[in-house]
Amino acid sequence: MQVIRTIAAFKAARRARAGSLGFVPTMGYLHQGHLALVRRCRAENDATAVSIFVNPTQFSPQEDLARYPRDEERDLRLLREVGTDLVFLPPPEEVYPPGFNTWVEVLGVTERLEGAHRPGHFRGVATVVAKLFNIVEPTRAYFGQKDAQQVVVIQKLVADLTMNLEVVVCPTVREPDGLAMSSRNVYLDPEQRRAALVLFRALELARTLYAGGERSADRIRARMTHLIQEEPRARIDYISLADPRTLGELSEIRGGVLVSLAVRIGATRLIDNVVLGVEQ
Ligand code: PAJ
Repeated sequence: MQVIRTIAAFKAARRARAGSLGFVPTMGYLHQGHLALVRRCRAENDATAVSIFVNPTQFSPQEDLARYPRDEERDLRLLREVGTDLVFLPPPEEVYPPGFNTWVEVLGVTERLEGAHRPGHFRGVATVVAKLFNIVEPTRAYFGQKDAQQVVVIQKLVADLTMNLEVVVCPTVREPDGLAMSSRNVYLDPEQRRAALVLFRALELARTLYAGGERSADRIRARMTHLIQEEPRARIDYISLADPRTLGELSEIRGGVLVSLAVRIGATRLIDNVVLGVEQ
């Protein structure tokens, strides 16, 4: 496994490899959700590259950039165990040198949901992912359904700018009790960890209502809201039932529906989602 910290050295290592290269961009503090992407990537490509970069431009000033969890040594051990060929681990000034002043902005699908609650977030994501794609030149890039809107944004970025790679979306990996794995779960104390299960329970409620024939998005949203409000440690940022492609909010469900939510448990903001009525 080659661990590389500069763009020039990464490009040289990449060009020395023939065959397909799969790429998994991450912010590190790896868990089984990340590692599932790496395993899938390994299975589908001749070689696998992973980036670990806590991207400052996708955090707003009030967010958790400074305390975002990091453990480089553990991440590298896990990547070595799973089998990774190239790891790109740049310092911030390698990605954003003095004078950096070009931004990639995907409009429309970034306006709602996470985009509405985290101004500038997707501009930071699209910019760093475009830059990483230029450095890594992957055949395929792997993203988790856990960040449903990020997937839609990246697919739009790749399509609109005719980027020469395939985007592969992988299912959300969960803890045994249903909590979606996230690097931010380490912020939760035991009481909050129990309360955090309310996100999964609300999504399961939506699934059950939908399976029972309910097609009013408004009624499903109302039932989910009620369930979460019964958990005193939870504060709802949004609960959304949206068109999975446009992310436009629905009141009646006709085709498929992306049910997504963002909930604060104490100071920790958690997101989760499920897609209903669409073959995935
Ligand atoms: P990060 O939050 O580290 O996530 C890296 C990748 O792992 C993303 O594609 C994310 O959707 C996926 N992932 C996270 N938790 C998952 C889970 N429980 N199951 C399946 N996949 C999961 O997303 C980012 O980093 C950044 O925005 C990034 C794309 C690297 C750009 O900075």
